[in-house]
Amino acid sequence: MIVRKTPAELEKMRRSGMLVCQVLERLSSMVREGVSTLDLEVEAEKMIQEAGARPAFKGYYVPAIGKKYPFVLCTSVNDEVVHGMPSAKRILAKGDVVSIDMGAELDGYFGDSAVTVPVGEVDERTKRLIEVTRNALELAIDKVRPGNRLFDVCGTVERHVVANGFTIVREFVGHGIGTQLHEEPQVPNYVDRKNENPRLKEGMVLAVEPMVNAGKADTRILEDGWTAATRDGEYSAHFEHCVAVTSNGPWVLTRS
Ligand code: MF3
Ligand code: CO
Repeated sequence: MIVRKTPAELEKMRRSGMLVCQVLERLSSMVREGVSTLDLEVEAEKMIQEAGARPAFKGYYVPAIGKKYPFVLCTSVNDEVVHGMPSAKRILAKGDVVSIDMGAELDGYFGDSAVTVPVGEVDERTKRLIEVTRNALELAIDKVRPGNRLFDVCGTVERHVVANGFTIVREFVGHGIGTQLHEEPQVPNYVDRKNENPRLKEGMVLAVEPMVNAGKADTRILEDGWTAATRDGEYSAHFEHCVAVTSNGPWVLTRS
């Protein structure tokens, strides 16, 4: 069942979304050569605490892995796709790209968003990877409207990525969000004909999160048991926003 939120609930989701947005803006501004991914983690935890919120990922049980995720952030560098773990040893260097993914719970409602940030100058192909992934999300957001269907959102990401010569990660998907971090429906970044294709209705909220690889789509899990990385070692990008279906069109809860 896809839970629909009342206007009052959407206002609460807006507040958690704004917190996530503010934290990601601050972390993005910290990204430079010499900063560790643990530096980002420390700042994120501090800001969430000060806001009277709770990190959504830390302690979150992931059934597929059978463990609780131990950090506030997922910081996935270069060929890492998702679920990279912050570390003092992971010092960002020029030419790297870091995806920062964060969720927070405020007043019982969740927000979840991700950005991919270049560290200094990156090569042209990497710039294009980031732009194509960001634009795939923007084009998909525009499909989050009453009367459209889920596959309109999924297919829009898929078409934009494929048309630009990059590949879509299939093992990880977007999701509904509300009083739970992960709610129905699953929101793959491709049309999955095995899934249902529900009509979008006012009050539904989708976390749309394209994960796009520069090379082949295949991923593997690293020795730490969490980090997903590309098999071919090529770079990956990830952007995410929470989007509410409203009579006025898409409402991006995680953007100011
Ligand atoms: N943003 C991801 C998601 O929406 C990460 C959450 S998984 C966790 O699924 F393990 F980090 F909690
Ligand atoms: Co998410």
